[in-house]
Amino acid sequence: MDYRRLAGTDLDVSVLCFGPMRSAARTPSADDRSQAGERALRTALDSGVNFVHSSYEYGVRWMMNGVLRDHPKRHDIHHVIKLPGPDWKDGNRFDAAKFRMRVEEALTDLAAERIAVLQWMWRTDPNDDDNRVKVLPMIVDDVTAAFETLRDEGKVGFLSTFPYTSAAAKAAIDTDAFSGLIGFYNPIEMEMQPLFAELAEKNMGFLCIRPLYQGILTDGRDSLDALPDGHHLKKPENAPEFAKRRAVVSAFAEEIGDSTTRFALRFPLLSESVASVITGLNTEAQVRHAIDCLSGVTPRPDLTARALRLWQQDLVRLDGRMVCSPVAAGVAA
Ligand SMILES: NC(=O)c1ccc[n+]([C@@H]2O[C@H](COP(=O)([O-])OP(=O)(O)OC[C@H]3O[C@@H](n4cnc5c(N)ncnc54)[C@H](OP(=O)(O)O)[C@@H]3O)[C@@H](O)[C@H]2O)c1
Repeated sequence: MDYRRLAGTDLDVSVLCFGPMRSAARTPSADDRSQAGERALRTALDSGVNFVHSSYEYGVRWMMNGVLRDHPKRHDIHHVIKLPGPDWKDGNRFDAAKFRMRVEEALTDLAAERIAVLQWMWRTDPNDDDNRVKVLPMIVDDVTAAFETLRDEGKVGFLSTFPYTSAAAKAAIDTDAFSGLIGFYNPIEMEMQPLFAELAEKNMGFLCIRPLYQGILTDGRDSLDALPDGHHLKKPENAPEFAKRRAVVSAFAEEIGDSTTRFALRFPLLSESVASVITGLNTEAQVRHAIDCLSGVTPRPDLTARALRLWQQDLVRLDGRMVCSPVAAGVAA
């Protein structure tokens, strides 16, 4: 397992971060998916993964607790948790008590003494740039104060943010309140990449979410029809996303060779700014494969620049809203 220093922190995190969003049923259950997810998490920890993402919104912490509460490595795990506040309907108001409650709840659920990284996010209604950029300066001092109180109690480590868009990301960087950013990042979602140079200048880190574009950038999935029946992405409105996949696969045919999955998993780490890829892992086989793929990745600014050009010139022109929008995926982003 490779590890990278997360810029802006003193954390050395595994380049693979366990994403549990679909690894278990949303309520305690002995179903096949939950059992496979539990084995996947155990395999990841046994294989050196020391970085674990989670959210109360996924409803899967019951499974994680079963693995983590008496795991011999639990004190070595760095947790990153999603922490929305204000939420969509909170009228742009930040509530320090709710912020604390979400941290305390995560400490209990994850059997942890500290949450290493808070992925704080502010949600507005409507959640557009006008609103978001305007609201941030109104609440950021209160967020920082709430974070610092918890940090001084030893309960949290670092404050980062998930800004949704590049305009909000730029506003967040300019506040100097955050150790880094967390965002979607893969060859189909390159919006955050132009900010990487500024992040590096300011010693801020970046964590990549969904390197596989929710599973579309994986082997054999060149069209909607290739998805198994019942798959959560098998919806007609997602067809345009497979056109984007085909554009990526065609542009990087040589680098991809015989595995799109391998290329997509490694892609974020081609940039020095990215410390870890937060990947949805549902089975032991996916964990072992991801670990194998992520070994020995070195920076390739030329490839990252090519992907950015493709995204700017072609991918954004291909029709279709993002497949993995919260509405399509049925999960709050
Ligand atoms: N706003 C947010 O904070 C936010 C939003 C979304 C996600 N997340 C976090 O990011 C994590 C990852 O997001 P994601 O799951 O949407 O996207 P992803 O990591 O791009 O895709 C994960 C999917 O790819 C497939 N897969 C995983 N490993 C594979 C392998 N080795 N070989 C082939 N296929 C593989 C699995 O799908 P199948 O099993 O269906 O093939 C898996 O569900 C989530 O678990 C969650 O922790 C955060």
